[in-house]
Amino acid sequence: MQQRSIAFIGAGNMSRSIIAGLRQAGYPADRILAANPSRPKLDELAQQFGIGITQDNAKAARASEVIVLAVKPQLMATMLAQLVSELGSLEGKLLISIAAGIRIERLSDMAGGHPRIIRTMPNTPSLLGLGMTGLYAPAAIDAEDRLYAEQLMQSVGKTLWVEQEAGINGVIAAAGSAPAYFFLFMQAIAEQAEAMGFSPQQARLLVQQTALGAAAMVEQNPQLSLQALREQVTSKGGTTAEAVRTFQEQGLMPLTAQAMQAAVARAAEMETLF
Ligand SMILES: NC(=O)c1ccc[n+]([C@@H]2O[C@H](COP(=O)([O-])OP(=O)(O)OC[C@H]3O[C@@H](n4cnc5c(N)ncnc54)[C@H](OP(=O)(O)O)[C@@H]3O)[C@@H](O)[C@H]2O)c1
Repeated sequence: MQQRSIAFIGAGNMSRSIIAGLRQAGYPADRILAANPSRPKLDELAQQFGIGITQDNAKAARASEVIVLAVKPQLMATMLAQLVSELGSLEGKLLISIAAGIRIERLSDMAGGHPRIIRTMPNTPSLLGLGMTGLYAPAAIDAEDRLYAEQLMQSVGKTLWVEQEAGINGVIAAAGSAPAYFFLFMQAIAEQAEAMGFSPQQARLLVQQTALGAAAMVEQNPQLSLQALREQVTSKGGTTAEAVRTFQEQGLMPLTAQAMQAAVARAAEMETLF
């Protein structure tokens, strides 16, 4: 991976996870800076990963080729305005946003018209290094910058580029919000397992281990479609066939489509807030 000097503005959970991934992959500590208004998170990062820390965003940004925008979306405009006013210009710097719901055009406005910005959309399992991140870059962004952003996010999981920025909202529906869909389905299975007489701990173990096993089967059999995998574990006239038939007859597929479309619509609505 290119070892550019990189500053994380906002040293919260997501920055911490990416920094952990970078350090684990051998990224040099003296090429990483984190900036945050309060001190305790910074001290922990310095102690654990040996990186540089500062409470001064401008100082971190000035010293770095890449700036990761990792504050909460509602703080982005103020943070960037202050950065631009202190630095004069962000020329020569690549900005990588991990903030949910702020379009590139808007980020560029907030950053004084800065043109070199890549937008990423990680999901929460990134905090465990098992993330799924969507990336979007405008046409003018060069291949080296794209590769850098991709490798950065691969430090916390897998990545997928989208061709159009609207594709980021599809990533939100299929990956960003999707851990919650699985939690909901797992909750439904666990609750029914409890109703069938298992203790809460037993029900959780049953569903948790089965979800892990099912995900591993998907991952380890890339040559099989999801439908083929399901058919392989569904004998004609058996128990699984009865359960799957019930799900399908009760509209699981159109219901899921409707839920994902609702997520996309909400994501588009939220983009107008910032
Ligand atoms: N966590 C996720 O699963 C996830 C998934 C997708 C996208 N994201 C995006 O990632 C970004 C960060 O999320 P997070 O979960 O890491 O949030 P977080 O843990 O709250 O981290 C945000 C950090 O920004 C700091 N901060 C506040 N104002 C600042 C300023 N003016 N300058 C510099 N730092 C400032 C906060 O410091 P204090 O705590 O001291 O105020 C905090 O440490 C958000 O934009 C979010 O949309 C997160």
